[in-house]
Order: sequence, then C-alpha cells, then structure tokens
Amino acid sequence: MAIEIDNNEKKNRTFDIDKIRNDFPILKQLINGKPLVYFDNAATTQKPLSVINKIESYYKEINSNIHRGVHTLSQRATVEYEATREKVMRFINAENLSEIIFTKGTTDSINLVASSFGKKFVKEGDEIIVSQMEHHSNIVPWQMLCEEKNAHLKVIPINDSGELIIEEYEKLITEKTKLVSIVYVSNSLGTINPVKEIIKIAHSKNVPVLIDAAQAIQHFKIDVKELDCDFLCFSGHKVYGPTGIGVLYGKQALLESMPPYQGGGDMIRSVSFSKTVYNSLPAKFEAGTPNIEAGIALGTAFDYINSIGIENIFDYETDLFNYANEKILAIDKLIPIGTAKNKSGTISFILDGVHPHDIGTILDFDGVAIRTGHHCTQPVMERFNLPATARISFGLYNTKEEVDIAIKSIKKVFEVFI
Ligand code: ALA
Repeated sequence: MAIEIDNNEKKNRTFDIDKIRNDFPILKQLINGKPLVYFDNAATTQKPLSVINKIESYYKEINSNIHRGVHTLSQRATVEYEATREKVMRFINAENLSEIIFTKGTTDSINLVASSFGKKFVKEGDEIIVSQMEHHSNIVPWQMLCEEKNAHLKVIPINDSGELIIEEYEKLITEKTKLVSIVYVSNSLGTINPVKEIIKIAHSKNVPVLIDAAQAIQHFKIDVKELDCDFLCFSGHKVYGPTGIGVLYGKQALLESMPPYQGGGDMIRSVSFSKTVYNSLPAKFEAGTPNIEAGIALGTAFDYINSIGIENIFDYETDLFNYANEKILAIDKLIPIGTAKNKSGTISFILDGVHPHDIGTILDFDGVAIRTGHHCTQPVMERFNLPATARISFGLYNTKEEVDIAIKSIKKVFEVFI
C-alpha cells in the first residue's frame, strides 16, 4: 500500500491485537465447531462492544426524536447525534459542520448527489465520468440520471492488473463533463486509485469530483482538504459502526448551490401553501426522522478508531495484507484477480476449475467467512471474463494466524474438487 504516514503522528500509540479482538464479542463464537475467522469485512465490519452498548443505552436511556423537542431526552439525543457530525468532520478534516450530511449509506449519498446535483447542473448532451471498477451504486444512479436528462455516461477503462488507465481518463474529459465519480479503493479488486491525481486533472478543467470512500475510510487516513475532493461518501457499517447510517461530505458552496434531495420535516425553515423556505445546511439534505441510534453509535465507532489511531490501523493492516498477499498468491493453481501495485483491504481470486461459491462453502465448513460472487461489480467481472471471484477482505481485528487457517482451507478445496 502506498499511503505515506508521518512518523510523528504515530508516537505513543500501541496496537494490542488481543485487546482489540476482545472488544468484538462476535469473534468469540464457533462456526461449524471452528473459531470464526471473519474475512468479509468489505461487505460489513463487526462492531466493538462500545458501539453495541451505545445502541442499547440509547434505547434504554434517551430514545426520543431529535431537533424537535424542548424536553430533556430530545435535547440529549440531539446533542449526541450532532456530536457524531463533529467527530466525522474532524476525522476527515472537513471545514465545517455544514459539509457533513447524514445519509443511509454510500448508496444513498451517491443517489443524493446524482439526484440533486444532476437536477441542477446536468442537461442534455452533458457527460458524467465513472470507471470500469465502480460498485453498482456508483454506476446505476448515474445511468438513471443520464437516461432522464439524455446525458452520457463515460467509463475509464482498467488494465489487466485492475488499475485505471489514466491516459484514457484524460481523453474522456471534455467541456461537456459535469462530474467525475470514482471509487477510492475497489471492493472487488482492492486497487487504491490515484484519486489525488484524478481530482487534479478534473479540476484543471473545472470539473468536480466525487470520491466513493466506502472501502477506504476504515483503512487509512483521509483528509478531504488535502485531497481537495468536492464530494466524498462512506457507510457507517463498514467503519465498525451500525448499518443504516452513512455520510456525504460536500464542499459547502457546492452543497449550497444544490436543491434539496427529499422534502419533509427538518429540511424546511417554514412551510405554507404559498411558499416553503428550505432549511440551511446540513438539514436541507436531511428530511424526516433519521436513524438516530445509528447516527449516535457511529460517533462511538469513530471514538473507537481514534482510541487505536487510524495510522496504527493502517500500519497493522499493511503488514497483515502483505503477509496474506504473499502466501495466498503462492498457492498453486490460484489465480489472483486484481494485481495492482497499490492495494488495500481485499484479495480476490479464483481457483482453476472451481466455482467461487464452492470455495466459499468449503471455507465456511472451517469457520472462515469470505464473500463469493460479483461483489456488485458486474462490469469488473465482465472485464476479466468471469462470473464471480472469491474475496478475502480484512479488518483491524484479523491476524496472520487467521490467514494461515484460510490458506489451509483453500488448499482443502483442491482435495475436494481437483
Ligand atoms: N459493497 C459490499 C461488498 O463489497 C456489500 O461486499
């Protein structure tokens, strides 16, 4: 992995893997009589006890609606919910709280931008650029927009290693390009895209860029000011928080210029049949009662990550990834899918002559949870002429011993099928 970390930031941090594993109660169970080895972290991460307890204590102690009540519980819930906004703002180094919009997740965040930005700025004949390695959630909303507006979706191709072909990207940008929407880390290939360079190229032509950071935010430090991205989104459940909560970061001026996404309570300042006045940011994009307990517990997830240190997580996971990559790629007859120079979090592969679902089933007998399928990236599968891959994806609680267990189990697949 190619992210540089300032050594000064790492001072006085420790990475106590036994303590960390102990923080995740789900890891203690047996699956099919074997200790659970959870390697499906790109699909969702497990939750530390502090996050689980926070959800429970929310319902036991402060359950109430936010932003609406003068009573004590409502105020307590509001304070805690809004505290998460501040934690997210600090975590990604946004400029202010108006730039942090809570959504249901990455998919919802991208749909918000496609709908609202699209309504305002995209017209017939315009172009949106995505890449061949996008998750369906960063393809379909743009296809829907293009269909509605009679605009065009252009696609940056990838090479045989699973890297974006930047020269082709440069050729795709025209005066008609309205937005570039790119994944930071591919969920099916593990490729870390050179997003800073992609943003710089787009900005040189005054084109804004959305970064899908769903597979990045949990693995390494993201600084939206340093990246200079215009939008960035991620999901709470992939960063050790609950499902049903996500974030859209947007530069304030851009968000101000966009119309509301959905109408309803909270997103208005006043409503009458003659005129409705919309609320200011971030409420303008947050219609209706949100997922309050998930929003609050997402703050606890960031507290947890901060207590370990994202740079520390990066270092630990880099060592684990390199170990796993070397050993998994050395397995005879295993074909890696996605061999980019810069990778993070994910190793995808196929075994000659075995369907990936069979690999997943045999590993499950040994308590090893991996994902098999197209990973919601069917264009990637098409590019590599495959129906599916098997995917191992890492979290901060995984260990080299678990990698060894998975490898032993992968070797068993050959005994059964070949
Ligand atoms: N996008 C998630 C994955 O890659 C669900 O598994």
